[in-house]
Amino acid sequence: VTTRHLVLPADSHALHAVLAEAAAVIRAGGLVAFPTETVYGLGANALDATAVRRVFAAKDRPAWDPLIVHVSSRAMLDRVCSSLPCRFDEIARAFMPGPLTILVSRSSAVPDEVTAGRATVAVRMPSHPVAQALIERAGVPIAAPSANRFGRPSPTTAAHVLADLDGRIDAVLDAGSTDVGVESTVVDISVDPPLILRPGGVSREALEAVVGRVGVYRPPLVETPVEALASPGAGIRHYAPRARVALADSPRAVEEMVRDLCEEGLHAGVLWAGDQEREPAWPAGVAVHPWGRWGAWDELARELFVGLRALDARGVDVIACALPPEEGLGLALRDRLTKAARR
Ligand code: TXA
Ligand code: MG
Repeated sequence: VTTRHLVLPADSHALHAVLAEAAAVIRAGGLVAFPTETVYGLGANALDATAVRRVFAAKDRPAWDPLIVHVSSRAMLDRVCSSLPCRFDEIARAFMPGPLTILVSRSSAVPDEVTAGRATVAVRMPSHPVAQALIERAGVPIAAPSANRFGRPSPTTAAHVLADLDGRIDAVLDAGSTDVGVESTVVDISVDPPLILRPGGVSREALEAVVGRVGVYRPPLVETPVEALASPGAGIRHYAPRARVALADSPRAVEEMVRDLCEEGLHAGVLWAGDQEREPAWPAGVAVHPWGRWGAWDELARELFVGLRALDARGVDVIACALPPEEGLGLALRDRLTKAARR
């Protein structure tokens, strides 16, 4: 297929026409990549099993990894679930719309393809105006994983989407860079305390301010069948560039690591977050991507996947990077980086 690159025009009349076109593609069972506040998603009508199967095919995603269903209203949410956990309203009031995905009991309207046969469906109400407008106009909930090839870094621009999926999807709606830069937080609130299955755009601290103590799911370290994982995406090598990712405990340790890698004769890249005052004297040939200020985790989240993709494009053998602490969006950054570094 030819992938249409639909750049969103500023003029409101033209904007309506583009959104109407994209919504028509969704209703007809096609695939449209669209911006959300976290990353770009690859959308299909969540109630159409054939369209949903196309999403898996376009991404080369295994059928066992379920999709998030995106809604634009509470009425639409009610169509995809059969019952809501008792804390749902309290949490939805605080974080919906926004970068939070909640597991709920699925309704019979949701095909098995979406949930990989699980009894729960993951629901999210994005806050990005383009995402909201697309869902609303399509008039159906939209199932959407991140719009990357399975296992690759998630896309934060339309160019990233096209790099992975050009010719495999019907259209991409281009509204520039996304704001958060890492995916939504996936949470199971049916258990006590609630459990973060995937850290993301809503921090553990922000959730705890609303509901009290919240746990973080740690997938088993031994190889485990996906059916036995609380969240299938949790246990795998993921978000990975082609280059090897080498992690250090601090920016200073990254400097030493890069010197060692160069001595080994490797073409090293570095995703560099340091203090502004002092730029290290890097060995000749090192590819440096400025990541942001160490400690400004929101800033680093916005630039994480951009940086991994950019360094990959420069053809480095290995990407050196410091691992942020478990604080604010640092928890999500640690999760993505440790998964990217897994062999
Ligand atoms: O920010 C985001 O969440 C983006 C945008 C597009 O909304 N979407 C996204 O989707 O990151 P995806 O498919 O790349 O990641 C969804 C994660 C996977 O790790 C999947 O295993 C988990 O959510 N998940 C989905 N449904 C689930 C369910 N019913 N039970 C447990 N985990 C589920
Ligand atoms: Mg993904």
